[in-house]
Order: sequence, then C-alpha cells, then structure tokens
Amino acid sequence: MSKNLAAVILAAGQGTRMKSDLPKVLHQVAGKPLLSHVVQIARELEAALIIPVIGHAADRVRDALESENLTFVLQAEQLGTGHALQCAEAALNGFTGDLLLLCGDVPLLRSSTLQKLLAHHHLNSACITILTAQMINPTGYGRIIRGPNGVERIVEEKDASSTERQVDEINTGIYLFRAPEVFGFLQQLDNSNVQGEYYLTDVVAVARQEGKRVEALMIENAEEAMGINDRVQLAQAGTLLRQRINEAHQRAGVTLIDPDTTYIDPDVAIGCDTLIHPGVHLRGKTTIGSGCEIEPGVIVTDCIISDRVHLKPGSVLSESRIGADCAIGPMAHLRPGTVLAGNNKIGNFVETKKAVIGEKSQASHLTYIGDAVLGKNVNIGCGTITCNYDGVNKYQTTIEDDVFVGSDTQFIAPVTIGRGSLIAAGSTITGDVPADALAIARVEQKNIEGWAERNRQKRQNQDKK
Ligand code: UD1
Ligand code: CA
Repeated sequence: MSKNLAAVILAAGQGTRMKSDLPKVLHQVAGKPLLSHVVQIARELEAALIIPVIGHAADRVRDALESENLTFVLQAEQLGTGHALQCAEAALNGFTGDLLLLCGDVPLLRSSTLQKLLAHHHLNSACITILTAQMINPTGYGRIIRGPNGVERIVEEKDASSTERQVDEINTGIYLFRAPEVFGFLQQLDNSNVQGEYYLTDVVAVARQEGKRVEALMIENAEEAMGINDRVQLAQAGTLLRQRINEAHQRAGVTLIDPDTTYIDPDVAIGCDTLIHPGVHLRGKTTIGSGCEIEPGVIVTDCIISDRVHLKPGSVLSESRIGADCAIGPMAHLRPGTVLAGNNKIGNFVETKKAVIGEKSQASHLTYIGDAVLGKNVNIGCGTITCNYDGVNKYQTTIEDDVFVGSDTQFIAPVTIGRGSLIAAGSTITGDVPADALAIARVEQKNIEGWAERNRQKRQNQDKK
C-alpha cells in the first residue's frame, strides 16, 4: 500500500441529466456502479485512503458500496467542487503526500494513465498537476489557460470569453495535489462566478499567485476522460469498458466468437482455450476454467467453474461450483448452493438448488433436485422431483452412491436412499430405502378386460338416440 497516496472521489452531485431516482454514481456499467469502477482505479494505485464525497441520496450510495471499506464524507449541500474537496479535509486526518482527485462519474480512466500523472507530478515537484485532454468539441468543459510560464488558470465554459472558448485543451477534472497545501488554497476561494459555486478549478490561479508550480499532463487517449452525464454516455462507456475487458481475455487466450455480444463483468476470470459463443453473460465474481465451451444465451453469476465444462444454450447458473468435465443444459437452471463434483451431466430442464452431487452422477432431463445430497454414480431418471418443501419447512433428500432412480419418481423429503438401491419408475418414495434394495411405491396395475370396447358401444348407442 502506498502510504503517500490518498484519493478523494467527488460523488455528491445528483446527475440531473440521468433523469433518474437513482443517484448518478450508482448507475451501472459492466455490472458495477460507476463509483465502484472509480474506487477500483484508486485501489489499483494502492491508495492508502479512499474518500468518496457523497451528498445527493448519500445513504443509498453508502449502502450500495458498504462492502468496499471506504471512508465516506458527507457534503450536505452541493456548493461546488471546491467545497466538496474541503469537506474531505477532516477525513484525511493530517495526511501529507499526494492527493489524487477523481470524479465518481469518470469510470474509464486507466490506472496506468494516473501512474504517468504521478510520475510527472513528482518529476516536476509540482504543487498541482492537472490531467488534461485535447477535445475536438470542448463544449461544456473547463479550459486550460496557459501563459508564458505554463498553466495560469482554468476557466469554466460558462465564465469563459469567446477567445478562451477556442482553447481545445480541457480540464478532465482529475488532479494531483500536495496535501495539506491544497486546503490552504481552498480557503481562499469565493463563489463570484456565473454558477455561484466554489470552483475547485480556481485553486490553480491561487497557487500560481503564491508562486507555486502548476503542471498539466495531456492524456493520450481522450476517451478515458469521458464523464457520464446521461444514459447515452452511460451506454457508450459500457461498450468501451466491455471492449477493454473482452480484448484482455482474447489476448489471454479466450476465444470470443462475437465480442460485441459477449458481456463479461470486470471481476470475472477465464482460463485459456475456453470458447465463448454470442449472447453469453458472465457476471459478478465468476471464475471459468480452461478448455470450457459456453454456448449462446448462457448466464453465469458468481460461480466457480472448473476445466472442460460444457455449458449448453440457455442455461442459467448462480452461486454454484461446477467440477471438471461437466456438461450442463441446454436450458438447465443451477441455483445457489449447487455443487457438482465433476463428470456430471445435468440435462435439459433440470433445476438444482442447494444440491451437492457426487462424481459422475447425472440427471439428464426434466428434474428438480433441491436440498439434496447425492453420492457418486447416481442416475436420476427423467421427471424426478425432490419434494423438499411443505409450505413451512425445507427437508433434505439423501441419495447414496450408485443408486438408480427410475423416471417419474418423487422423493417426499426427508428421506434417505441407501447405496446401490433401485427405485422403480413412477414411485412416490415417502420412507427410507435400505442399501441394495428395490423400492416400488406405486399403485398396483389393474386391467379390466373389454372395458374400452364396452364403453365405445355405449357411446355409439347414445349417439343413435
Ligand atoms: C468540472 C470542472 C471542469 C471540468 C469538468 C470535467 C469545476 C468547477 N469544473 O465541471 O473544469 O472540465 O468537471 O468533467 O470543477 N460535485 C460534488 N459536489 C459539488 C459539485 C460537484 O461532489 O458541490 C461532483 C459531481 O457529483 C461530479 C463532479 O463533482 O462527480 C464534477 O461536478 P460537475 O458539476 O459535473 O462539474 P462540471 O460542470 O462537469
Ligand atoms: Ca460533469
């Protein structure tokens, strides 16, 4: 952890142009809130402190990022970006070192770009280093005004003269400051500008007046500085992030047949020689092994999947662990708590939940296995149901090794089926079955000779009347 770096993330604004009840920084791209992406950037730089400044719907933002272990600071009234940074001073707790300022709505920055910003800042012993970009259309951004001795100030679009508006070097809103020096400058700000706000950008002119060194580093790829203000930009950022993620997997040996329709969240890991078809979604903290094949329409959320697993079209898997060499689907639904040991076949229209299934066991068609433990080499016939729920409580089904379950069997849990036993098709099993037994639990068949013929005659006679 870099003891010398702290990051403050401005995230108090409402984001009016999103036209949303949800605060802007909680809108998601690539499966994570905008603010989480920015937090991730700060983490990659090993910032010792990460301080989001929140205000609009602060409680919702805090709750959504609760697990991230951040030092939230409240800006109750949004009086401007300068005021927002001021709100973070106490939380920095006398920190001296590099203070990185990020915006909660700028999620595409690469940490490598910020490494360059840090290097530039140190090399020049700067007091402030601004990350800038050259924009073909700079409308809306603050402009970097340079003089004979470097950067003099930043002027906001709304306060700029027509000549200043010609400048195409813009302020990305990302800076490095020396802490605690910057807080001295902030005290000198006023809000005598068009928007009546305390502009963080004004610290540049203040620093220069005090004879401090202000530097600017222009970003190579302006795309990284893209801020999200509306839902069009939100989708654009999503596409760019997805491209980045997909390219990284491709370069690491994963085949994506159609990257444009492949949706992989940032925290997903995939082994090499895995083949991914179009329309696949890999979400959350999913891990996929090598040599797997994932066919169209598969959705995997928070799963650990071993090597050479074949996920067939339309299958949905959540919070499950899949051992090597399993074949799943098409149209299988593996719900939380499913654990497959390996070499399992889970076929079409099979649903599992809290089901721990031993090696080589299979359920090939039309089955529900919930709250169950299955041993090795168990064969579950078509249409088998573990009846696990009486409307109040859930009950366990245990099926030991080498059991053969005939089609259309119901297990009325709790029930234990001993190893090597055989369940006759069509059985409703309400009690335990000992090892190596045959269990038949169905009504004995009765044939009534000639009944159908007599019935036909009766109907014909009725029709004649
Ligand atoms: C700001 C910069 C501008 C720069 C642009 C880059 C200022 C005055 N201007 O303008 O030079 O080109 O970003 O995108 O800084 N926020 C708070 N509290 C506030 C006000 C804002 O937390 O009181 C947060 C917002 O939620 C947002 C960020 O600060 O995440 C930027 O604020 P915004 O109002 O969008 O500033 P811009 O007008 O875009
Ligand atoms: Ca903005």
